[in-house]
Amino acid sequence: MLQPALPAAGHQTPGLTLSGIRKEYAGITALHAIDFEAKNGEFIVILGPSGCGKSTLLRVIAGLEDIQGGTITINGKEVTHQAPRNRDCAMVFQSYALYPHLSVADNIGYPLRIAGVARSERRRLVEETARIVDLLPYLDRKPANLSGGQRQRVAMARAIIRRPALFLFDEPLSNLDARLRVIMRAEIRQLQERLKVTAIFVTHDQVEAMTMADRIIVMRAGKIEQVGTPSDIYERPASRYVAEFVGGQPMSFLQGEITATGDAVVLSNQARIPLVEPMLLAAGTRVDVGLRAEAVQLHLAPGPRTFSARFRFSEYLGAAKIHHSTVDEVAVLSFDSTCGDIRDPNVHLEIEGSKIHLFDRESGVRLN
Ligand SMILES: Nc1ncnc2c1ncn2[C@@H]1O[C@H](COP(=O)(O)OP(=O)(O)O)[C@@H](O)[C@H]1O
Ligand SMILES: [Mg+2]
Repeated sequence: MLQPALPAAGHQTPGLTLSGIRKEYAGITALHAIDFEAKNGEFIVILGPSGCGKSTLLRVIAGLEDIQGGTITINGKEVTHQAPRNRDCAMVFQSYALYPHLSVADNIGYPLRIAGVARSERRRLVEETARIVDLLPYLDRKPANLSGGQRQRVAMARAIIRRPALFLFDEPLSNLDARLRVIMRAEIRQLQERLKVTAIFVTHDQVEAMTMADRIIVMRAGKIEQVGTPSDIYERPASRYVAEFVGGQPMSFLQGEITATGDAVVLSNQARIPLVEPMLLAAGTRVDVGLRAEAVQLHLAPGPRTFSARFRFSEYLGAAKIHHSTVDEVAVLSFDSTCGDIRDPNVHLEIEGSKIHLFDRESGVRLN
């Protein structure tokens, strides 16, 4: 990892390197020492709640904001002090920012006109690009006469026509309805894979992040909280913050304490969950035990490893049901692929020790 970057050989040069990026707005630190490296052609999603600094980071990469510290390298070329037009980035926003008075062809070809590309060459590249995004029949229309998905594709075509080194997306799907969002998610990902251009995609939507990313950067208050593949982030969230942010159903948290022997956790209701990998956790450590629905099984009768809970209701998902119960007033969800019906509210829950997440009660940091 610490060897000097090899010259040329495009696929080995990182697509983007950020080191020590710091951004301040009049006394507020919006980004604290951001370090990150994207491989060439990688699709990176920046995920986090509103105000955590996602757009600021994207604008810093594009050169639209000055920074107070750090360096930015795109495809092996340091661009920290370069103007936006010299960074070879193409940005797609939530508002597509299409010119309403220009045709689809002129919108797509706009960056080439600015760059002074001759009309005939422009026409050729516009047609080639329109074919890639399936807009060839619409070149003479105005944006007002297109569907939302088609407008999004015009914005994409305009972004790709110059074959940038880096795609930057700032919540480009937020204005679309749910069905179209699912379609465009796949379209953007397929297009990016075909063009093999490194992409940085900002969203606050964990489903978009999970379904689109090669790797996800989870941000919290101007810092990187965790970087990982979607399965890393889901299966081993580095903190309670990350655990609460990802997953289709909210994670439940029960309070517990590590036993004197260090090989089990005892919940506040005295239920004992053996820890599968023996962990070096100090006896008496106070933990939050994070449970996803797939870590919990609901039984109608008590068993050797169950504890009692009160059943509230079920959600039918087609292939499974999610049963909602409460334990000490905390909602605990359980996944049931048999879609069983529950009639007696007195139920018994069993926790799969290998699927629990332990977080330090005070710091929220993952312990297992
Ligand atoms: N132009 C600006 N001037 C001052 N503060 C700003 C400016 N832009 C963003 N901020 C602040 O920086 C922080 C991060 O904002 P932003 O990057 O827009 O977050 P996100 O895109 O994750 O919602 C917020 O606290 C926001 O108020
Ligand atoms: Mg934003």
